[in-house]
Amino acid sequence: MLIDGKRVLTRVERVEIGLMKNGYNALAKEYSEKGFVIVDDFLPIEIADNLESLYLRGNNEWELNDQIRDQKYGKGKHGLFRTEAPYFPGEDEAYSAKFWWSKSLGEEIKSVFDEYFKPALKEVSRLELSEFDVRCYKLDKGCHYRVHFDYWAANIGCIYYVNKKWVWDWGGILHVGLGDSVDSVTPIFPKFNRVIFVDHGGFRIPHFISHVTDYAQNPRLSLISLNK
Ligand SMILES: [Fe+2]
Repeated sequence: MLIDGKRVLTRVERVEIGLMKNGYNALAKEYSEKGFVIVDDFLPIEIADNLESLYLRGNNEWELNDQIRDQKYGKGKHGLFRTEAPYFPGEDEAYSAKFWWSKSLGEEIKSVFDEYFKPALKEVSRLELSEFDVRCYKLDKGCHYRVHFDYWAANIGCIYYVNKKWVWDWGGILHVGLGDSVDSVTPIFPKFNRVIFVDHGGFRIPHFISHVTDYAQNPRLSLISLNK
């Protein structure tokens, strides 16, 4: 509404902004206390629907990354994923990850990331962040990530789930451990329009994604970002 040529917030707008601020306060608190926070129904539904359609198009130039890195669980300078904990891989195991990555799609969705994800990442982390690595991933049969850490790569990680259809036993479940000596982990379902913010700067959080099964009826689609 305009008063004397100046824009004045209506009562409804004030309430909405208040909610948003309080909402972010609660999220930032949970994030800093727990190490991660989950937000459902993150994007306006039409934006979420559109993202899914973009991912499902035929021309996304998906490139397969099929990595095996035996040094990652070692003790040398590459041993960034190593823990002394008995329930995580030891020196005699090799790190592996398998996933599809579309760089062209990453470029295409950058405006959505800038508009919706960037402000949320700043509010939740309470950091002045500007540069982000944004990636579009697809996981189908056999795709997975073995356990790793991202504390050395970023302050805040963000994982957003794109596809509407998924079920628990198709695999592709993110598992998060709080502290590297844990004997239990938290499974996080890749639910449509869900985002997870992970505090890599404040916590050392081991995480992995279980193998996608042969009987998964469609691939698991996600958007990932790490601040640079
Ligand atoms: Fe990660």
